[in-house]
Amino acid sequence: MGLNRIYKIMGHRLNFVNLSKILSVWLLVLICFTSCSWGRDNPKSPRTYLNNSSHCKSLSQGSLILGDESIALNPDFDNGLSNWAGKGCQIILHDSLSDGKIVPQSGKYFISTTGRADSGSGIQQELTGRAKRKLAYELTAVVRIYGGNVPEANIQATLWIQTADFRQQFIFIASVNATDSDWVQMQGKFLINGFPSKVLIFLEGPPPGTDILLNSLVVKHAAKMPPSPPPKFEVGDFWVNVVTNSNQNDGTTSDWFCLGSCTLSVGTGSPNQLPSLAAESLGLHHQPVSGGYILATNRAAPWMGPAQTVTGKIKLYMTYQVSAWVRIGPGAIRPQLVNVAVSIDGQWVNGGSIEIGDDKTWHEVAGSFRIEKQPTNVMVYVQGPDAGIDLMLAGMQIFAVDRSARFQSLKKQTNMVRKRDVILRLTGTDSSNGTKIRVKQTRNSFPIGSCLSRNNIDNEDFVNFFVRHFTWSVFENELKWFYTEPQQGNLNYKDADDLLNFCTSHNIKVRGHSIFWEDPNAVQPWVRALNGNDLISAVQNRVTGLVTRYKGKFKHYDVDNEILHSSFYKDRLGNSIRAYMFNTTRQLDPLPTLFLNDFHIEDGNDFRSSPEKYTQLILDLKQQGAPVGGIGIQGHIDSPVGPIVRSALDKLGILRLPIWFTELDVSSTNEYTRADDLEVMLREAFAHPAVDGIVLWGFWELLMNRQNAFLVNAEGDLTEAGRRFLALKQEWLSHAHGFIDNEGQFSFRGYHGSYKLEIFGPNGNITRSFNVGRGKGPLLIPIHV
Ligand SMILES: *[C@@H]1O[C@H](CO)[C@@H](O)[C@H](O)[C@H]1NC(C)=O
Ligand SMILES: *[C@@H]1O[C@H](CO)[C@@H](O)[C@H](O)[C@H]1NC(C)=O
Ligand SMILES: *[C@@H]1O[C@H](CO)[C@@H](O)[C@H](O)[C@H]1NC(C)=O
Ligand SMILES: *[C@@H]1O[C@H](CO)[C@@H](O)[C@H](O)[C@H]1NC(C)=O
Ligand SMILES: *[C@@H]1O[C@H](CO)[C@@H](O)[C@H](O)[C@H]1NC(C)=O
Ligand SMILES: *[C@@H]1O[C@H](CO)[C@@H](O)[C@H](O)[C@H]1NC(C)=O
Repeated sequence: MGLNRIYKIMGHRLNFVNLSKILSVWLLVLICFTSCSWGRDNPKSPRTYLNNSSHCKSLSQGSLILGDESIALNPDFDNGLSNWAGKGCQIILHDSLSDGKIVPQSGKYFISTTGRADSGSGIQQELTGRAKRKLAYELTAVVRIYGGNVPEANIQATLWIQTADFRQQFIFIASVNATDSDWVQMQGKFLINGFPSKVLIFLEGPPPGTDILLNSLVVKHAAKMPPSPPPKFEVGDFWVNVVTNSNQNDGTTSDWFCLGSCTLSVGTGSPNQLPSLAAESLGLHHQPVSGGYILATNRAAPWMGPAQTVTGKIKLYMTYQVSAWVRIGPGAIRPQLVNVAVSIDGQWVNGGSIEIGDDKTWHEVAGSFRIEKQPTNVMVYVQGPDAGIDLMLAGMQIFAVDRSARFQSLKKQTNMVRKRDVILRLTGTDSSNGTKIRVKQTRNSFPIGSCLSRNNIDNEDFVNFFVRHFTWSVFENELKWFYTEPQQGNLNYKDADDLLNFCTSHNIKVRGHSIFWEDPNAVQPWVRALNGNDLISAVQNRVTGLVTRYKGKFKHYDVDNEILHSSFYKDRLGNSIRAYMFNTTRQLDPLPTLFLNDFHIEDGNDFRSSPEKYTQLILDLKQQGAPVGGIGIQGHIDSPVGPIVRSALDKLGILRLPIWFTELDVSSTNEYTRADDLEVMLREAFAHPAVDGIVLWGFWELLMNRQNAFLVNAEGDLTEAGRRFLALKQEWLSHAHGFIDNEGQFSFRGYHGSYKLEIFGPNGNITRSFNVGRGKGPLLIPIHV
C-alpha cells in the first residue's frame, strides 16, 4: 500500500494510514515528467521592495552553519528578501498587509507570493552546500494564505534534490491546512541520502490566485530526543473488564444509556459462554457469562445504540482487547454492519467491526485499541445497523492484555513449526566416539524482508543494516503503474531496475509489487480517463510490458492490489478482468507465486476485509481458473492482539496457500510499546505453520511511510523496536555442542536454515557447513571428515 487511507463509517472519519503522502508521491512523479525543467532553469526574479544590506553580508557570506543555526538563511526576513525567491511567481516583503489586519506573528516581517499561476507556484530557497546528507533536519515554518476567496488550503513543504549523477528527487517534508484567518505552524523532518549537487526547499499547494504568506522558515539539524521511558503497568491492571453490568445480572440496563435516540431493555437467552477470542486471551481470568443481553429498539439512525462511559478506566499505552456477542433483529434487507466504537474526546476509534447477514444467531465482534494521549472523556458504544433494525449486545468485555503472557505458548508452537530434529552421521578418521563437536546456525531460512525505495540505497548506513538483516525485499512504489508509466507511453523502469540490481547483487529475493492496484486514487489520470477497449489494451500492455521485461526476476507478484477495498478495474471491465490479470501473468512468467494483497485482514477492525471475505474472494478467483498461489496480508496494524491475529491466520490457513505478511509495520509514539507490538506480530507470524514470510514496510525513520514505526532512527541509532527485532533474530538461531556418540552420530533440534559445523578432532579442527530444510521427520545428514 503506502497510502493514507481515509474513509467514513457512520459519519466518523477514520484515518487508517495517510493518503496525502502517496498522492504527493505520484504528483511528484507527474511533476517530474511534465515539468522537470523548472529545477534546471529555476528562480524567477523576485521584485524587491525592501533591502537591508548590513544583514545580507553577515548572513549570506558565512558558509559555516553551526548545529542549532538555521540552514535556511534569513529565516525571519530581517534581511529583506535575500536568499528567498519565488517559484513560478514573485515574492514581496511586508511588515503588514490588508490595512494592518495581517501583521507578523513574530519578528518584523513576512513575505507573500503574488501572481501564482498554478498550485506548484510558491516560495523557495536554495540550500545547496548547507544541507548535508545523512543528517536529519527539522523544518518549522509559520504560514497562512491570503486572497482568492479560499478560506482554507493545504500548503506543502518539499525538498528538491539533484544528485551528482543528475537524478532528481522530491522529498515530502510537511503539510498543513493553512487558513486566511490566522498564522499556523508547519513542522516536519527530512533526510538526504544521495550526494546532492543542488538542493532547494519550497512551499506550494494552494490553488492559483491564492497567495502564500510566510512569517518564518527555519531548518535546523533535528535535536535527538531521548526515548520516553517504558510505560509502567501493574499486574492488577490486566484482564479486568472495564465495562460494567455487561451481563445484566441484576436484570437492569444500569450503567448503560442509549447514544442518540433508542430504547434499551433487557433480554435473556444469549450464549452463556464467552466468545472464543476473549476466552482464549482471558483463560482463567474470565468471569462467567449469564445469558442476559441489552436490546436496543427504536433506533433512529445507524450510529445509535447502547453506550457506556468508561472515562478514567483506560490507561495510556495499554493494549485493550474488545469482545462481545452481537445480534440484529429482523427486517434487514441487506447485510448489516456492527461496530464497537470507542469515542475518545469525540474522536472515533475502532474497536472491531463485522458484517451480519442473518437475524438468527449471535456473532462475535472482536477488536482492539490503544490510546496514547490523555483523554478527558471516553465512551464505548455499539452501532451500525440501519435505522429501525434492533441491536442486541451481550457479555461485552474490554480488558487490558498482558501480551508477554502468550509468548511462552508461541515459543512452543514455534519449536514445533520452525525446527527439525537433525542427526549428523559422521564418517571418516575424525569422527570417532567422544570427539568434541559444535554446531552454529549462521542463518535462519525463514524469509524476513523490508521494502525499499530508490533513494534508500544511496544511504550506505541504511544499506549496511538492510543487507545484514533482510533476505527479501519489495519496492515501495517503483514498480507501481503510476510510477512506471505516469503518462501513456512514457515508460520509466530506471528506478525499479536500480533496485533490482541492488537486490540481485546482494542476493536478496524480491516480491514484485504490484502489477495492478484497484484503488482509484492510485490509478493515474490517463488510465482513469480510458474506457472499454482502450482500457483493456492499456491493461494488456501494462501486464505484458512489465512481466516480459522482468521474466524470471521476481519470486512473487502482487497481481491486483487491495481488491477487498476497491474495484477500479473490476467496475470498468467486469469481474473476469481479475482472472485475466492472473492468467496473463502466469502465461508470461511461470516462476513467480501470484499473490493477492490486502489490509486489515488480521485485526478484526474492518468488516470489508474479514478473513471470511478474503477466503470467499480467493475461492471465487480460483473457481474462475485464476492461478492464485499466495495470500498477502499487508499488516499495517494498530494495537495487535495475538489471539485475533492467530484466528485470522487459522481461517485463511485452511486454503492451504502460503500466507505472507507483505507490508508489516506497527506504530507507537513510545518505542517500548512499538517494540511490544512488533514482537507480538513477529512471534504470531513465525509460530503459525501457514505463514511463509514476513516483509516489513520499512524500518528507518523518515525513509518509511508510517510515522512512529521505525526500528532505526534517521541517523542510524537503534530504537527499542530495533533491539527487539535483532534479539528475536538471534533467538531464532540454534546452537548446539557435545560429543560424537559411539555410533558416530550427533543429534540436535534446530531451526531451518544454514549451519556451520566444527569438529575438534585428534588431527586438528575441521569445519563443514550444512543446511536444514523443512520437512517431515528427522533429517539425517551424512558428513565425511
Ligand atoms: C538591495 O541590495 C542589492 C545587493 O546588495 C542591491 O543590488 C540593490 O540595489 C539593493 N536594493 C535597494 C532597493 O536598495
Ligand atoms: C537593517 O539591519 C540593521 C542591523 O541589524 C538594523 O539596525 C536596521 O534597523 C535594519 N534596517 C531595516 C530597514 O530593516
Ligand atoms: C486538512 O484538511 C483535510 C480536509 O478537511 C483533512 O482531510 C486533512 O487531514 C487535513 N490535513 C492536515 C495536515 O491537517
Ligand atoms: C483463466 O485461465 C483459466 C484456466 O486456463 C480459464 O479457465 C479461464 O477461462 C481464464 N480466464 C480468463 C478471464 O482469462
Ligand atoms: C564411547 O565413549 C564413551 C565415553 O568416552 C565410552 O563410555 C564408550 O564405551 C565408548 N563407546 C565405544 C563404542 O567406543
Ligand atoms: C581448535 O579450536 C579450538 C577452539 O576454538 C582452539 O582453542 C584450538 O586452538 C584449535 N586448534 C587448532 C589446532 O587450530
